[in-house]
Amino acid sequence: YSGIDSENRAPVVTIMGHVDHGKTSLLDYIRKAKVAAGEAGGITQHIGAYHVPHEKGMITFLDTPGHAAFTAMRARGAKATDIVIIVVAADDGVMPQTEEAINHAKAAGVPLIIAINKVDKEGADPDRVKNELATKDVIPEAWGGEYQFINVSAHSGEGIDDLLDAILLQSELLELKAPATGPASGVVIESRVEKGRGTVASILVQSGELNVGDMLLAGAHYGRVRALVDETGQQVKKAGPSIPVEVLGLDGAPEAGEQVQVLPDEKKAREVAEFRQERDRDVKLKRQQA
Ligand code: GTP
Ligand code: NA
Ligand code: MG
Repeated sequence: YSGIDSENRAPVVTIMGHVDHGKTSLLDYIRKAKVAAGEAGGITQHIGAYHVPHEKGMITFLDTPGHAAFTAMRARGAKATDIVIIVVAADDGVMPQTEEAINHAKAAGVPLIIAINKVDKEGADPDRVKNELATKDVIPEAWGGEYQFINVSAHSGEGIDDLLDAILLQSELLELKAPATGPASGVVIESRVEKGRGTVASILVQSGELNVGDMLLAGAHYGRVRALVDETGQQVKKAGPSIPVEVLGLDGAPEAGEQVQVLPDEKKAREVAEFRQERDRDVKLKRQQA
């Protein structure tokens, strides 16, 4: 979109990196909640989304798991984002999912910022990480390259303000805008079926305004929005660009990364959803026969 109705919007920042390098802890420090401590085994199972007010502007964060099994999710996350933060633990260095995340961000054409984490730890060696990344063509600005490198600690909070400044600097260069009114469109971050709530889909609104009562098409599913819940668990009436929100009311769970769109009427939404369900069935059948 570049229409005259476009307004400034918050940057959408995806945190990626190798398993246990401290992605969730960093986000946790930033929003001063305790997600990492509450996770089973400390493993991020799905993409979480947080909208963080910062004195210099809003930032929306998407958390991703570093586990090898989540490659497809990282590929989709890279596409749904404006900026990727690559987290590398200073005591562990560049690992397979570090490289994979860099490749996803580069393939998606998304600017990336390197956060060297755990600098508080004994054995932390940020210079080794810089050298390792430089051999992968990710060269620090300080060495004449194009990438911002920030030393941080999710435990002590060292460098976190510098990281937020780096994000906001990068985001100003991108001049991010979207229409703040009109029918919403966006992308599915994750979805699940919950007892007593039905389908719960985390949606990132990318354009327009999503309202309770809207007829929503999400991948191969549709439904009237029964409720919208923000990341603090509060019910809200609407959500605008760059805002992540939980949507209740879909007739089934759409896949992460699928497109979301508000349509004028239920008949159209049902037709498209049924068409896509049939297409998905055909694809599955062909795969089974192959
Ligand atoms: P996955 O989502 O499973 O890929 O892991 P993650 O990258 O989100 O890492 P997580 O935040 O779960 O942190 C992994 C472990 O590292 C936890 O025990 C954290 O307490 C620890 N940790 C994270 N950041 C720091 C840091 O800056 N310093 C120290 N000393 N420990 C850290
Ligand atoms: Na972890
Ligand atoms: Mg995590």
